[in-house]
Amino acid sequence: APQKVPMSRHEPNKYINYQRIQDNLDVVRKRLNRPLTLSEKILYGHLDNAAEQDIQRGVSYLQLRPDRVVCQDATAQMALLQFMSAGIPEVAVPSSVHCDHLILGENGAESDLARAKDVNREVYDFLATTCAKYNLGFWGPGSGIIHQIVIENYAFPGALIIGTDSHTPNAGGLGAAAVGVGGADAVDVMAGIPWELKCPKAIGVKLTGRLGGWTSPKDIILEVAGILTVKGGTGAIVEYFGPGVDTVSATGMGTICNMGAEIGATTSVFPFTQSMHRYLVATGRPEVAAASDQFAHNLRADPDAKYDELIEINLSELEPRINGPFTPDLMTPLAKFKDTAKDKDWPEDISACLIGSCTNSSYEDMTRAASLAKEAMDAGLKVKSDFIVTPGSEQIRATTERDGLLETFRKAGGTILANACGPCIGQWARHDVKKGERNTIITSYNRNFTGRNDGNPATHGFVASPEIVTAMAFGGSTNFNPVTDTLTTPSGKPFKFTPPNGEELPARGFDAGENTYQAPPANRDGVEVKVSPTSQRLQLLEAFKPWDGKDIENVPVLIKVKGKCTTDHISMAGPWLKYRGHLDNISNNMLIGATNVENGEANKVRNQATGEFDAVPATARYYKAHNIPWVVIGDENYGEGSSREHAAMSVRFLGGVAVIVKSFARIHETNLKKQGLLPLTFSNPKDYDRISPEDKLSILGLKTLTPGKPLTLRVTKPSGEQIDIPVDHTFNENQITWFHAGSALNQIAKSNK
Ligand code: F3S
Repeated sequence: APQKVPMSRHEPNKYINYQRIQDNLDVVRKRLNRPLTLSEKILYGHLDNAAEQDIQRGVSYLQLRPDRVVCQDATAQMALLQFMSAGIPEVAVPSSVHCDHLILGENGAESDLARAKDVNREVYDFLATTCAKYNLGFWGPGSGIIHQIVIENYAFPGALIIGTDSHTPNAGGLGAAAVGVGGADAVDVMAGIPWELKCPKAIGVKLTGRLGGWTSPKDIILEVAGILTVKGGTGAIVEYFGPGVDTVSATGMGTICNMGAEIGATTSVFPFTQSMHRYLVATGRPEVAAASDQFAHNLRADPDAKYDELIEINLSELEPRINGPFTPDLMTPLAKFKDTAKDKDWPEDISACLIGSCTNSSYEDMTRAASLAKEAMDAGLKVKSDFIVTPGSEQIRATTERDGLLETFRKAGGTILANACGPCIGQWARHDVKKGERNTIITSYNRNFTGRNDGNPATHGFVASPEIVTAMAFGGSTNFNPVTDTLTTPSGKPFKFTPPNGEELPARGFDAGENTYQAPPANRDGVEVKVSPTSQRLQLLEAFKPWDGKDIENVPVLIKVKGKCTTDHISMAGPWLKYRGHLDNISNNMLIGATNVENGEANKVRNQATGEFDAVPATARYYKAHNIPWVVIGDENYGEGSSREHAAMSVRFLGGVAVIVKSFARIHETNLKKQGLLPLTFSNPKDYDRISPEDKLSILGLKTLTPGKPLTLRVTKPSGEQIDIPVDHTFNENQITWFHAGSALNQIAKSNK
């Protein structure tokens, strides 16, 4: 019998189950009788019922059994509150919680972390005790960013992981299929219920040539984002293959998979490579590496596997890119950046350059960035922009500190923040630029939506590789191309960067740093979870009401949203993050970032009962208080961005019943269903134009809500004129039970009784 290999050193009694993948694939191969792609092997290898599951890419819904659930502290609060109210004694699969999102970056790691522990004590205590009670691993503040800790400790080739954070796909760097989900999906899996996923399509990206010089893994995903755009990956898994793959480090593949979230992809995957093998050994898991070697035939695509779409990139010809501003798919090759910046009037001075984050803080990234910083410093140069470094984990921090890299950054004028998300999620106390002041920042992060980093809508955020960001910090201007241009040293000499060089893995091994992990106790009976009834940050949940059995009749439009509406617009992050565990309080941010078609303004809608303009949440609360249900009308790719289920919960909590749009981003659409809402799409997207904010809407056909059968939206104009518009939904049989029960959680509690 094959040797049993533990999934991680933190769960010595839970084993990697390659046998299940093999057994499932034996069944699926007989049924499908065609070559399989890598993502198909991993997903179908985790089917709940391989013999009977309907498998059609882009069509059927898969019932899956993930190996692991991971949650970050912001999303974990609501996920655990939901898990608690389902009444189950312990999590059904290995799970962990990571404290990374709530740490404000201001003065540097030590004082920022101390303050975060103080300010967030109530939340950290809640998470720590809930983890201890329900048998989850707890990674306290300072331990690092979830995705970095997952790749360092938990991911393994062929794993299926779900995480309550959009950038969970980062674990694809170790050959896992890791998917960002809403808290409600995490609750399902922690409660032992199969996880449902629409069978993804497969987009193949063939990499040829070799990475080298200034080009880094980040440039591969910046290029892919430019080609596919923020919608291009929707409903698909992006699979990389081809000879170029072998020239990319495991952590580099992590970066690529991480930022695959920006094109809406379900996840991204890489075949098992020798760089993964090296990374597993370097992070203390030689036995996992050996098991993967033996199972390698199932950790890559079959030779003739068919993709729904195919892209080819020659790495030998790929050059650095800078994407942005305001959207990660606006790709500009570095060589054209200065001219484009002039043409488009992007602010020339670069106020801040930020490296690190979950996307780009590997040892390789840090050594390559430090090689540039050192070279410039040796020539007597200092950074011209603010230069900020967020290590991805305590292990990376301790290792890069030991090896002198952080000292190099500090000497160059950089600030080292805590091992946490910080400025990436708006947790950035910026003092150099006023709100509304136009300025440019460049980060090695993944996401650059308006206001994301500093809450300033006039900040032009760009994303690039850490190498380019570091070099740009010395240039301080969009007019500088580090590959071709020279800077002048204090002694008046010209200085030109040589291409960065780094090390894939630390020659002296990793230094684990401080131990910030709390394992669940063996005896968990005595552990008590407390939530104060007067807390402003945590609130136990009350169940939503079940469906009343009737159609929705003549309800107002709370807001008809124009243009881009991400989950940041629907449920803004930044300062609101502190209310993640308090549904009533956080609902005061509902849709405040969305643009009202009627006046082109954000957070100003007409109350259809009083005629007065007011804030969106206040108007919704008025309707709620008067028992008036309401709907939201939205544009394309509504709800793109993050997995936060608050974007759905707040809408439900404040009395919304349906969200009707041209098209949805996947996670948000599912989240709406989980909360008992009706996510609907116009059968003909042009019908969006036929609805005005003062119309009254009815949704007809709910009594016979059936998979694949459209509903009717009856629009009553103020004149009394009525028009019927067909609207589609993607509910399957199981999801319809959620709608009937009032939410997925209600349905779980019902079946547990
Ligand atoms: Fe955190 Fe930003 Fe990553 S919020 S998890 S560092 S995308």
